Amino acid sequence: MKGIMKKHKVGVIGAGAIAQACHIPGYLADGNCELSAVADPEEKCLAMLREKGWKFGHEYRDYKEMLKKEKLDVVSICTPNTLHTEMALACIEAGTDILLEKPIATSMKDAESIRAAAKKKGTRLMVGFSHRFNELNLSAKKAIDAGGIGKPYMIRVRFAHTGPWPGWAKTDWFYNPKIAGGGALMDMAVHAFDIAQWFIGPVSAVSCKTATLRKNIEVDDNVVAVMEFGDKCMGYVECGWTSPSGFTGIEIMGDNGVIYSDYAKSKAIMVCGTSTPDGKMEMQNSVLKDGIEKAQWKREMEYFTKHLDETGDFSPDIDAGVDTLRIVLSAYESSRTGRRIEIKK
Ligand SMILES: NC(=O)c1ccc[n+]([C@@H]2O[C@H](COP(=O)([O-])OP(=O)(O)OC[C@H]3O[C@@H](n4cnc5c(N)ncnc54)[C@H](O)[C@@H]3O)[C@@H](O)[C@H]2O)c1
Repeated sequence: MKGIMKKHKVGVIGAGAIAQACHIPGYLADGNCELSAVADPEEKCLAMLREKGWKFGHEYRDYKEMLKKEKLDVVSICTPNTLHTEMALACIEAGTDILLEKPIATSMKDAESIRAAAKKKGTRLMVGFSHRFNELNLSAKKAIDAGGIGKPYMIRVRFAHTGPWPGWAKTDWFYNPKIAGGGALMDMAVHAFDIAQWFIGPVSAVSCKTATLRKNIEVDDNVVAVMEFGDKCMGYVECGWTSPSGFTGIEIMGDNGVIYSDYAKSKAIMVCGTSTPDGKMEMQNSVLKDGIEKAQWKREMEYFTKHLDETGDFSPDIDAGVDTLRIVLSAYESSRTGRRIEIKK
């Protein structure tokens, strides 16, 4: 347990896009955190941090050396997907809390090894499922949990953009199956499955089709997946790396209405219908949230750093990371075999 007055010594592994847009500014903005060190083998990535004028203790090319030399309380893991497991295990061994980027790993064996090691050591670990910190989604969740649309029976999630490369990623690693472990399904549908489970509950079966439609790459650039949540609720996910955003967001249908969280318009709306005594339906629109005050990454970091001062688990925790990866890998199996896959824990 850490005292409230003591500053948390923080290390960041990987100084690329998500470290620069979310993790590092989040720690620098928090008065209770001290950014002790950053590790990245690429000089050009470390140079970007210096150019921004960000102040931090030490630079390392080798994260293992950083963990050995620095007495860190917490580490962010912001590296390509297949590196997450060895880095998470090393941080657990070094006794730090962890903010681990999604997907937590690229195989169930690896994911379970992180969970087992974290539970054994009592490590507190949060997964970077940033859409849970989007204010539109937070307002939608509050309304659903308050019974605003009755019992949900359908959800759709659409996340799309033009792809990480060329774009914000520091190399084209996202398109290399050996480093990324998958394509748009691994990168983006992992967020979609997590947010769907957060809104509705556990996915019980998945059917999926992935394809490489537009990019000349070795991994999938588009995915459509059907989710079942028991036999009274279902939903679908569409994610892709090949289009401008278009409609991006989430729509949840329930017995009494619908809520949509529209990222492009920055609005969360609830539409409910009531029947009048003469049998007509009257629709009521309520704006749950109009405009976003804080980017979801900023809000995520504020939550994470605040909870470093407290005891208890973070949310989303390692179990959420494992459960979501299971759906991603089942969706790949479904696409490969043409079968519907039941999700068994
Ligand atoms: N939560 C979100 O919204 C979100 C958004 C973007 C990326 N991500 C995740 O963050 C991770 C990184 O993605 P990115 O977009 O920042 O990629 P990126 O290419 O911009 O950055 C990756 C960084 O890792 C560094 N790296 C590679 N090998 C390393 C090693 N052995 N030790 C230390 N550093 C090493 C690279 O040099 C690079 O600086 C991925 O897992 C991705 O899925 C999450």
